[in-house]
Amino acid sequence: MATTRRPLIAGNWKMNLDHLQSIAFVQKLAWALKDKKFNEQEVEVAVFPPFTDLRSVQTLINADDLPLQLGAQDVSMHDEGAHTGDVSGVFLKALDCQYVIVGHSERRADHHEDDEVCTSKVQAALRNNLVPILCVGETAEDLEQYGASKVPVDQLTAVLSSVKKGAEMVIAYEPVWAIGSGQAATPDQAEEVCATLRDTIRSLHGDEAAQSTRILYGGSVKSGNIAGFLKRENIDGALVGGASLDVDEFVAIARFPHHVSVD
Ligand code: 13P
Repeated sequence: MATTRRPLIAGNWKMNLDHLQSIAFVQKLAWALKDKKFNEQEVEVAVFPPFTDLRSVQTLINADDLPLQLGAQDVSMHDEGAHTGDVSGVFLKALDCQYVIVGHSERRADHHEDDEVCTSKVQAALRNNLVPILCVGETAEDLEQYGASKVPVDQLTAVLSSVKKGAEMVIAYEPVWAIGSGQAATPDQAEEVCATLRDTIRSLHGDEAAQSTRILYGGSVKSGNIAGFLKRENIDGALVGGASLDVDEFVAIARFPHHVSVD
């Protein structure tokens, strides 16, 4: 892994934990990180609670200066107005969110979010000084039909072609077949696609963007497999679902530099 990119471990809670549960969870997480002597200079950790929890979690982070970044799981493509149910990037920024996830496969599937919608949401995030974490990944059928890289590269290309160069973004490679299945990609499989994604960034946004953009792997990441991914040159962190809801597991993942490698 290139030393210039600080690894990011991002916990996507999905639709779990209400605002009261989120308070108890973050208190436990903060305590466990401190107990395990977590070093935020080494690794950046971010949590992505449901919208209804954001204010509670923000208050805890700010009050105790916790070593956690805050992000949202989605953002509206609009900043204000008659868009019932949407959540504006302006509001997320006001809650000290730093990141927003865009184009998670569950939103692409459940809400028919296509590349055009994802592009508008990435633009909305950037306009509001939020760092978008753009998720890309192939389904099991795509994998069989086209191989691993084609769909993620096409999804990335569609968005990057319409986004200004020089804006900070994070890319998350999440093969859909690996999400929630317990069957993670192998580090070799993930590295191959992440390297191709980095080449795509290079050809569309230049060498500097390719060097500085963090590319995460997501899909059944656990404390037992994280070290194998993070040893690879083009994998700069993880987007963690289920294991981010277990304090001990999530802290063990965040402390991956201290793990004995389990390739
Ligand atoms: P799991 O870690 O539960 O497979 O979920 C991955 C994911 O979708 C993170 O965004």
